[in-house]
Amino acid sequence: MMEQKGVMLSGIQPSGELTLGSYLGAIKNWAERADQFDCYYFMADMHTITVRQNPADLRRRTVSQLAAYIACGLDPERNTLFIQSHVPAHAQLGWILDCYTMFGELSRMTQFKSKSAAHAENINAGLFTYPCLMAADILLYQADYVPVGEDQKQHCELTRDIAERFNAIYGPVFKVPEPYIPKMGARVMSLTSPENKMSKSDQDPNGCVYLLEDPAVIAKKFKRAVTDSEACVRFDPVNKPGISNLMQIYAATTGRSFEAIEAEFAGQGYGAFKTAVGDSVVEMCRPIREETERLLKDKGYLESVYRAGAEKAGRIANKTLRKVYKKVGFVAP
Ligand code: TYM
Repeated sequence: MMEQKGVMLSGIQPSGELTLGSYLGAIKNWAERADQFDCYYFMADMHTITVRQNPADLRRRTVSQLAAYIACGLDPERNTLFIQSHVPAHAQLGWILDCYTMFGELSRMTQFKSKSAAHAENINAGLFTYPCLMAADILLYQADYVPVGEDQKQHCELTRDIAERFNAIYGPVFKVPEPYIPKMGARVMSLTSPENKMSKSDQDPNGCVYLLEDPAVIAKKFKRAVTDSEACVRFDPVNKPGISNLMQIYAATTGRSFEAIEAEFAGQGYGAFKTAVGDSVVEMCRPIREETERLLKDKGYLESVYRAGAEKAGRIANKTLRKVYKKVGFVAP
């Protein structure tokens, strides 16, 4: 008998260009696991409209994100790649889960607090119930693992709580998923303010490195990265957040340990270290950028990938949705 594979699922909002943080925290991990799991990865376009978007930019970034997924090694033959809004079950289950999630739980979400502070003029209901839609994304596919960066851990934990609550009422409808967070690169910090997370919505363009950016610009951003005055490459996130962040990035891109990095740059000051980290990122990004650019010239191919992806994803998602409809007491259509 064929062994049933576990399910892995994740998504990224096309609300900005892909960053080094989303690559090291999430995508890199996805690409390494296609053989072991049945994998679903999507462009979370429905989540992005919780903040105002320029429609043309959103469309362009959604397709470009798909091309980048493939360029990062997600083979569409072995991974189901789709656009969230193409599978209506996400919105349908999202509504139901709204009704099984408490106001207090949603009020405690740190992303809601930080985003409502950043967009005080537009604290809409979607921003508040965002974690219910994310729970629907995950639970529809009966995912075992959700590979994300550290900042999404709280949303994954709420997803588990919602699943357990629902299952306690109706029996085992949902698989209770686990977040899957990498050892290295789970929280990449800004290069200019290393006490803050590197983010695609960063106001300071020098703090954030984009995956598809010009190599010369990437190298320059690393040369300008904020460090400290000790001139010693040593891992100490509390007292040396800038250097420790660069060490994490270098460890994630080269696979080297902190001890090996400390030995490599002993007695050399920061110049050589910053250049080496920049070079390692440039070399990691180069093939991804070139392949993304090539794929973006073939819109027909990308369209065929997201259509096939939505069809397969829709089949799986609708199976769970039908079960949920029945459990909550909706008349079968
Ligand atoms: P998003 O779009 O903000 O980020 C996408 C992924 O990248 C990770 N990430 C980082 N990892 C390390 N360091 C950083 N500086 C960094 N910045 C971002 C995030 O942890 C995430 O894994 N709500 C999600 C999108 C989503 C989703 C889902 C994820 C919607 N539905 C279902 C998983 C499953 C979000 O806003 O991620």
